[in-house]
Amino acid sequence: MKFERKDLPAGTPVVGMIGGGQLARMTQETAVALGIQLRVLAEGPTVSAAQAVADAPVGDYRDPETVRRFAAEADVVTFDHEHVPTELLHELEAACIAVRPGPDALVHAQDKAVMRQRLDAFDAPAPAHQVVASRDEIADFAKRIGGFPIILKTTRGGYDGKGVWVAESAEDPVVDEAFAANVPILAEEKVDFVRELSAIVARSPHGQAVAYPIVESVQENGICVEVTAPAPGLAPDKAAQAQQTALRIAKELGVVGILAVEMFEARDGRLLVNELAMRPHNTGHWSIDGAVTSQFENHLRAVLDLPLGSPAARAPYTVMVNVLGGDVEDMHRGLLHCMARDPGLKVHFYGKAVKPGRKVGHVTAYGDDLDEVRERARHAAAYLTGTIDE
Ligand SMILES: Nc1ncnc2c1ncn2[C@@H]1O[C@H](COP(=O)(O)OP(=O)(O)OP(=O)(O)O)[C@@H](O)[C@H]1O
Ligand SMILES: [Mg+2]
Repeated sequence: MKFERKDLPAGTPVVGMIGGGQLARMTQETAVALGIQLRVLAEGPTVSAAQAVADAPVGDYRDPETVRRFAAEADVVTFDHEHVPTELLHELEAACIAVRPGPDALVHAQDKAVMRQRLDAFDAPAPAHQVVASRDEIADFAKRIGGFPIILKTTRGGYDGKGVWVAESAEDPVVDEAFAANVPILAEEKVDFVRELSAIVARSPHGQAVAYPIVESVQENGICVEVTAPAPGLAPDKAAQAQQTALRIAKELGVVGILAVEMFEARDGRLLVNELAMRPHNTGHWSIDGAVTSQFENHLRAVLDLPLGSPAARAPYTVMVNVLGGDVEDMHRGLLHCMARDPGLKVHFYGKAVKPGRKVGHVTAYGDDLDEVRERARHAAAYLTGTIDE
């Protein structure tokens, strides 16, 4: 269904989101509450967000004409993913369309080499790194940082750990795999980390910014599986340092909307930036049920230049566990058990068909006792995916 502006109540803001995945779908929940008209440029008529958004034209985000037409009918354009070509976004800006985050900021979430170079320029803490184009350069890099193993990653197009390899030597077969990707390759020090953290901030065009509590995220096979807010046992000065790093990056890069900064807490105490995302992020899903203002609401507020909402947590601990596709195809089958067992549990499904390892939903629990909250969330996710059956 297509809406003309004249069909909408006076003053209704229209936000155009490019991409119809679960992030757009979850953004719609808060758009509905705020009376914001969300339009989604969807990959197909039945993708995750298209099931929830009435105004979801289908089109290719790489096609200039499609994106131009879509953008022309929105007050502001924003994103569910970072794959829209930078040149195309520059074109929109030149046509006086508000693109938030803008292409000059977004490129740092699209290209890891550009991001590393920019962050180095203002001394943001990072793992040792270098763009490499041959086995010799890989060997030289490893020598410079004290030896193998090292990390190799594609500078563009990676997600959920696809495009990240551990190389044990310059002759490692993964080197061929990396170079076969046909994009520049970034070599990095393999950080010996205690855990991964994430710092999420929201920033608006006039410069207001808020920082969410620092969370701990657990990745398995390159996919985020569990997030705990706040990161248990993180020293207050380190938490403040992580928040300040994210706020600094948001300001230096001119980010508008949500910025997620994935970090490593290294065993030697360093807090190092891994990568950036400029959209609501998996490590911020806990905020829907666990914070006063969710990351999705603050993203919308920021791109519309409205005052930002409080990022404060509602409970001492919130744990979010991703529901990853397993053997069970019918995700609703487990709801009876999960809801009966735990009336405080919050379940979010993305309307996606189950495929092994695919993110099809998440569950959130919150409360005073971390062990108990974690057990509740883990149990529910495992039950829904069919890994336990009692
Ligand atoms: N330099 C590093 N040292 C140690 N581990 C690393 C390093 N870089 C990446 N990793 C591991 O690989 C995972 C994926 O890396 P990264 O976040 O760069 O890739 P991605 O595929 O773009 O991820 P995402 O799904 O978050 O977009 C990290 O979460 C971390 O567990
Ligand atoms: Mg990552």
